[in-house]
Amino acid sequence: MPTSLHPQKVGVTIRNAVKRYGTFSALDDVSIDVAPGEFLSILGPSGSGKTTLLGLLGGFVQPTSGSIHLGDTDITHMPPHKRDIGIVFQNYALFPHMTVGENITFPLRARRMPKDQWPAKLNAALEMVELTGYADRAISALSGGQRQRVALARAMIFEPRLILMDEPLSALDKQLRETMQLELKQLHAKLGATIIYVTHDQREALTMSDRIAVMKNGRLVQVDSPKELHDRPCDSFVASFIGEAMLLPVTRNGAGLSLDGQALRSAHPLPAGNDLFLTVHSEKLAFAGPQTAPEANLLPGRVESCLYQGESVRIFVTLDGGQSVSLRLPSNHSGWQMMPEQGQPVTLALHPEDTIVVPKAA
Ligand SMILES: Nc1ncnc2c1ncn2[C@@H]1O[C@H](COP(=O)(O)OP(=O)(O)OP(=O)(O)O)[C@@H](O)[C@H]1O
Ligand SMILES: [Mg+2]
Repeated sequence: MPTSLHPQKVGVTIRNAVKRYGTFSALDDVSIDVAPGEFLSILGPSGSGKTTLLGLLGGFVQPTSGSIHLGDTDITHMPPHKRDIGIVFQNYALFPHMTVGENITFPLRARRMPKDQWPAKLNAALEMVELTGYADRAISALSGGQRQRVALARAMIFEPRLILMDEPLSALDKQLRETMQLELKQLHAKLGATIIYVTHDQREALTMSDRIAVMKNGRLVQVDSPKELHDRPCDSFVASFIGEAMLLPVTRNGAGLSLDGQALRSAHPLPAGNDLFLTVHSEKLAFAGPQTAPEANLLPGRVESCLYQGESVRIFVTLDGGQSVSLRLPSNHSGWQMMPEQGQPVTLALHPEDTIVVPKAA
């Protein structure tokens, strides 16, 4: 029986990390604590500093100021090869002229582990990514998903305390990407290593993470669980970035709230300031009917168009105030029975618990 891989979980602490290139700040005062064994995703638009932050952890990027600790060890100035961090890049970076086994054992060679210990580690790593029996295959004879798993096995074979992944699935097609997302999640549960995972796919981040750190212009905007982030975004940037959100300008109306002159009830305290948006997710809206709670906000409008998308139909509604929203009906029998006609007047219901107002992003 192959021995299994048992990395020691370790927490990560980043304190006031700054990375400047000339006068440009790629990272601007980033502080975060990652718990031992946590799966943390870093989510943000292109150029927001995600790869720079991973580089700081991996040791490829030297911070201008700030510190990084792995557990109790200050690694701020430690060279990359001494950090014991497994890394998976977007393009796998496998050695094409080496076999699967040679690729996976490469870190053992680099660490000068005695050769008699390699086979047990290799078998455990292959088993972990379900590639048992593939050790002698050429890299060119593998599918994209299999190559991805080889890259994962290579990052895990030396039982790193921390694994960094930079958009590891972005080269794969949608179906394989979704399969690999689930496999990675299972692998994380099995392995228990701390994982920091960069993506700019919000759905991927919501699916996989214990927590998500949203970045913008080199800063952390919000760090929260997927549900908190999705349901309680801190501002209009996070709200528009996560989920199928629509942002509708609203105004203060005494202590309450008004959407195009219509009073709205929210179960949540309103944020400060005057630039406020109602953030409405498709799944929070429904057609008003006997099921609707008496306290729900009712929004009259007219059906603009219906877009068939396979598992559901997305229905675009122009509210009487002129703003556009959308909601979905499942494309099953009961969904089709409720499907409105184009141009039909409708009333939408939005529960006060789902009536989330965010301030405009700085
Ligand atoms: N060596 C460098 N010299 C100058 N500027 C750099 C350097 N490396 C990165 N930057 C800049 O720092 C910013 C953050 O880059 P980074 O690669 O971290 O972004 P990212 O969030 O990973 O983006 P993407 O999603 O496109 O991969 C970008 O504006 C980039 O141009
Ligand atoms: Mg990047």
